[in-house]
Amino acid sequence: MASLDIGIDLGTCTAIATDSTRSVVVREPSVVAVDNRTGKVTEIGSRVYEMIGRTPSYMQVIRPLSEGVISNFAMTEVLIRHMLRQITGSQLLKPRVTLCVPSETTNVESQAVIDATVSAGARKVYLIEEPVAAAIGAGLDLSKPEGNLIVDIGGGTCDIAVLSLNGIVTKTSIKTAGRLFDEAIIRFVRSKYNLLIGERTAERVKIEVGSVYEGSSEAITDVKGRDLMTGLPKKISLRRSETLWVLREPMDLILRAVAGVLERTPPELSADIRTNGLVLTGGGARLTGLAQVLERGTRVPTRIAQHPEECVAIGTARSFDYLDKLYDGFVHTSTHTH
Ligand SMILES: Nc1ncnc2c1ncn2[C@@H]1O[C@H](COP(=O)(O)OP(=O)(O)OP(=O)(O)O)[C@@H](O)[C@H]1O
Ligand SMILES: [Mg+2]
Repeated sequence: MASLDIGIDLGTCTAIATDSTRSVVVREPSVVAVDNRTGKVTEIGSRVYEMIGRTPSYMQVIRPLSEGVISNFAMTEVLIRHMLRQITGSQLLKPRVTLCVPSETTNVESQAVIDATVSAGARKVYLIEEPVAAAIGAGLDLSKPEGNLIVDIGGGTCDIAVLSLNGIVTKTSIKTAGRLFDEAIIRFVRSKYNLLIGERTAERVKIEVGSVYEGSSEAITDVKGRDLMTGLPKKISLRRSETLWVLREPMDLILRAVAGVLERTPPELSADIRTNGLVLTGGGARLTGLAQVLERGTRVPTRIAQHPEECVAIGTARSFDYLDKLYDGFVHTSTHTH
């Protein structure tokens, strides 16, 4: 039997696992529900996502990874175990696993994630940095002496890096990503319409009508929530044009961070990037107009990778081909043999 290699992207919003076929095998929202009375985990993943904002008081919904850090280690372990078990099933063979963890994970936390993955049944564990996994998953050839600019916009973090010759030349990570756009919509709807809406509604509104580019066509959606004045349910209509300036602030922070990385990039590589372009990955890359705004603001041709939200996960699975080629710092805290 061939050895089993698994890649897992432990994202703030979504955890995705891929096996050696390099196709997505398990995809779950990174949420866990705990019964406060017993302290036991009751549900993991998609069934919990449906409950967000609707739970009775005895139930707590936990996002073990938030804002680019591991905020609840025990629940992160539960999530890893859940993902692995769905792929390996009752198979006796222990897999090799590459994990992508949030960029600000400390060495102690990295080691704890490795230990948790081993205790969940892995034979060997590797960690990979998010922009590197994103670039591999987007199909970029990192071995060439050419600069590649990758921008991964997830739910909690935006990771920006210039990669060349299997190494990271410049990088940065900011906490302005998908969820901040949702929060901006929540604040706007509250202040303009006196309407309180939940995070899932805000995300839907962002996906359906949100835009950061004045050139995008008009769209409209219904938004339901609770009227702050009367306390009663209320419905309003929200137009795309209203969201433009609301989403501009987080958009500008991302643009500034990308420009900052370009400023710190050596001139030869900058020239390559102008030719090769900027590659966008992560679910946040799908925000209407975001690619246009980045292209206009950086003057670098910008494209969204195919299946942007899956690039990191696919990159983690493909990274096994790179294990011998990657330089230090590429795969850090590397291995643990069981
Ligand atoms: N069509 C869309 N338009 C705008 N935003 C979108 C769209 N589709 C997904 N998103 C956003 O993408 C984000 C999730 O992206 P992704 O799955 O790459 O995050 P993650 O990997 O879990 O997070 P992180 O990388 O920060 O840990 C969410 O904020 C979601 O709202
Ligand atoms: Mg991600």
